[in-house]
Amino acid sequence: MELLKEKIRQEGIVLAGGVLKVDTFLNHQVDAGLMMEMGQAFAELFGEAGVTKIMTVESSGIAPAVMAAYRMGLPMVFARKRKSLTMQTDLYTEKVYSYTKQEESEVTVSKKFLEQGDRVLIIDDFLANGEAALGMARIVQQAGAEVAGIGIVIEKSFQAGRGKLIEQGYRVESLARIASLDDGKVTFV
Ligand code: G4P
Ligand code: NA
Ligand code: NA
Repeated sequence: MELLKEKIRQEGIVLAGGVLKVDTFLNHQVDAGLMMEMGQAFAELFGEAGVTKIMTVESSGIAPAVMAAYRMGLPMVFARKRKSLTMQTDLYTEKVYSYTKQEESEVTVSKKFLEQGDRVLIIDDFLANGEAALGMARIVQQAGAEVAGIGIVIEKSFQAGRGKLIEQGYRVESLARIASLDDGKVTFV
């Protein structure tokens, strides 16, 4: 997606350790117009995939996921990282290990929002090692539903995530694929 790549070129800041800071439009402040274009791009990519529901994980996946849901006319559910007070039973729960943060967290989705037979499009802001997407895919499986595909805003193609998801048989579509962040410079695939 050329508009997204241009935004990354203009506003992305390369941090140490292969991390791209994009807090001006994705991870803190949000560019709603750009999000809507992303939603349209996901709708075009997955329009024929028989998707019945869109799923992401809080917090930064929510903006692109909700725009895709709007464009596709589908419900969107986000996995929570902390159990809410009003959400204590009838949950699907999976552990997700983050290499970037060196910590394990739990993601949960209420059983009432995923059904057997659902075809779920998983959307996330970043794909690094793939653990968040794999955790969501395990929740989809717990529900007896199917993963229709995985849509990513920014893929760090120099990390293992894409390979792991492809190996599991998932279709992965990323709006921007970054080959390298070496020398403080963004190089796209
Ligand atoms: P993985 O799911 O692909 O294995 O990724 P990992 O655990 O390494 O990533 C942990 C968190 O860091 C995730 O956000 C992920 O989106 C984010 N992240 C990974 N690489 C980058 C990067 O280069 N730049 C930025 N900006 N974020 C990156 P999170 O903890 O779920 O936070 P949020 O969704 O609340 O923003
Ligand atoms: Na994130
Ligand atoms: Na995320």
